[in-house]
Amino acid sequence: MRYFVPMQMKRRAVVLGGALASGLGAFPALAQAVGRPVVVASANGLAATETAIARLKAGADTLDAVVAGVNLVEDDPEDMTVGYGGLPNEEGEVELDASVMHGPTSRAGAVASLKQIKNPSKVAKLVMERTDHVLLVGEGALRFAVAHGFAKQDLLTEKARTVWLRWKETMSDKDDWGPGLADPGEAAQAAMADWIIADRLTGTINCLAVDGRGDISGVTTTSGLAFKIPGRVGDSPLIGCGLFVDNAVGAAGSTGRGEECIKINGAHTIVEGMRRGLSPTDACLEALKRVAAHYSGDRRKLAQFNLHFYALAKSGAHGAASLWGTYGSKPKRSRYAVSDGDGSRLLDSAYLFEVPGR
Ligand code: GLY
Repeated sequence: MRYFVPMQMKRRAVVLGGALASGLGAFPALAQAVGRPVVVASANGLAATETAIARLKAGADTLDAVVAGVNLVEDDPEDMTVGYGGLPNEEGEVELDASVMHGPTSRAGAVASLKQIKNPSKVAKLVMERTDHVLLVGEGALRFAVAHGFAKQDLLTEKARTVWLRWKETMSDKDDWGPGLADPGEAAQAAMADWIIADRLTGTINCLAVDGRGDISGVTTTSGLAFKIPGRVGDSPLIGCGLFVDNAVGAAGSTGRGEECIKINGAHTIVEGMRRGLSPTDACLEALKRVAAHYSGDRRKLAQFNLHFYALAKSGAHGAASLWGTYGSKPKRSRYAVSDGDGSRLLDSAYLFEVPGR
């Protein structure tokens, strides 16, 4: 199978090729830390990586740094895939999933189907810190959060409610929900809603960090699949799927269609790939090939979803890959966010297939 690696990663491969030539063997995932912090995130996480790298430079623990970073996105009503303002389930309720992993202590925590609490990543971190469990769900997760002082609030913004209503009103002509649009002034809103609905958002933010000592942590947080059946849990809160960290090797995470990630244990598969000597980018691509193999490489079936993987090695080397290089009803190039000693930027992800239909 052919696949595509952006130029910036090819240049990096040349640098790593030098390590190969000097006798380190395969990709040096188990090499010593490079001595400077690196943070990577999904493309909606540039501000998160900037916050996290600033915290790391000030001496923060890697998990505190990445959770502080994603809290910005959880709090942002404009990001309709995470936290406050996330798109709701089919009944109009926002249900959030999140997980954290702390490499230096090999601990993990997660919450799933959490309602009314806008920062599930903080609750996941408390599950890790203050219980001997790893995953709390639904009502139990909510009670645990409230017991720790989290305030309940309505997470459904007006914008998300508008999109949800439009989805209800247009998905079937065999029920009593309208087509809406009583007022022509609603047309612009409806158009906005229609392209969001067409993409069936599974946005999510994943953020991974390594500090100057080589300690690694990660977090993934999401409102999950838009208009999901209540109780649906995606990959984000499942350790080994939407997130995995091994302090000896590196970390990986995912965004996009969670069910496809779950079926290959995506993040764990990628970290194990790096342990075997694959570069972060190649480990992500290898995992995506497993997803493609589930559909015998049939691009018409694979065009129903996109899936993005992100990987960060202990050495600070990083990479990302997506099933589709460009995707969506308003096509967007698959990218990821990086903050390191060279500043903060969005980089093109590698990908298996270019554009659905080609
Ligand atoms: N990757 C987020 C989800 O599918 O829920």
